[in-house]
Amino acid sequence: MLSLVRSALSPAARSSSSRLMMSTLAPGRLLQGAKWNYQLLEPVIGDKTHRATIYKAKVNPRDNDVHAPQWAIIKAANDETTKKQLDRELKCYGLPNVASTPIFRQMYDKIDDNTIALEWLDNTLQEVKYEPNMHHYALIEKVLHAALTGSVILGDHGYVDVSYKPSNILISGMGTNNVTVKLGDFGQILPVGVYTGTQPYAMRAPEVFCGKPCTALSQVWSTAAMILVWMRPGVLGIHGSKSEFLQEAWCMAKIKRLFPDQFAGLEPEDSILEAIITTRPELRTMQTFKGVTHELGVAREVKDVLRIMFTLNWNVRPSASAILALEEFHALKKLVGGCFT
Ligand SMILES: Nc1ncnc2c1ncn2[C@@H]1O[C@H](COP(=O)(O)OP(=O)(O)O)[C@@H](O)[C@H]1O
Ligand SMILES: [Mg+2]
Repeated sequence: MLSLVRSALSPAARSSSSRLMMSTLAPGRLLQGAKWNYQLLEPVIGDKTHRATIYKAKVNPRDNDVHAPQWAIIKAANDETTKKQLDRELKCYGLPNVASTPIFRQMYDKIDDNTIALEWLDNTLQEVKYEPNMHHYALIEKVLHAALTGSVILGDHGYVDVSYKPSNILISGMGTNNVTVKLGDFGQILPVGVYTGTQPYAMRAPEVFCGKPCTALSQVWSTAAMILVWMRPGVLGIHGSKSEFLQEAWCMAKIKRLFPDQFAGLEPEDSILEAIITTRPELRTMQTFKGVTHELGVAREVKDVLRIMFTLNWNVRPSASAILALEEFHALKKLVGGCFT
């Protein structure tokens, strides 16, 4: 009967009904999971771009469970879109090696069809301000390791995470010698090679701008881009674009300015990029990757790995597993080795 009523509801009515259901989440409310109970604390605002309803919660263990964590995050769908993303997230935790590999944020409980409880971490990468020091190079190595390993594991199952961005990288223990980096937000994990026009603009690979489907190799580019925009926000993406009609060309023009030598010898079919660059002084004077990383004081070992990941031609861009095996990646590990125990 309930399903009859449900299917008779219009999409708008259905989405307002799920909103109504979610609005019952409020500070102080106790949610019962199969594993633990969760007392809702305050809502998490994050970078204000996320769509799901997020609460920090205190874990109330049962039967003196000594393994229970102190905190959790409650993630709840609040409309049709976030419900679809939550379903994808749940499906992802069901893939082999996801729930069991520590680079992924752990899922604790499915509370109901719209609500899950997940591991709490202290910060996102977005909240950490880059500084050219050994602790931050070590953090970069950990982020690269998590993001690339995640890409390999998902790729093995035929999926790609198209939402890599600093606010989806979770960190605990910053400032200590026991830093943990985990990947969060699996709402945008999609079948490899099917979807076009995905990835946040600043993290979008050139081939995806050119209309090709997003693949595991596009994720290699977006991982490097995520590190670069973390170090220098706005260096990639739509920041500074004045026309909403030219946003994609604007982003590609920035890629061209960062890596001019990789465009050398390519067919001049990108006259629109040239036009944008010529008419906008901030792009004309924009630094190359070499200049930006020099200005930021980035260690050579970090630059070497990023430069290889930023291979414009996806036909020759190394895979995530090839990057992890690179001599340059080992050199970065060696540079930061001993920084954290
Ligand atoms: N485990 C966590 N620990 C701390 N903060 C988190 C955690 N998970 C998410 N957040 C915060 O909530 C925001 C949104 O969570 P996320 O899972 O990315 O949801 P959405 O799918 O809506 O983007 C994150 O960007 C981050 O600021
Ligand atoms: Mg998110």
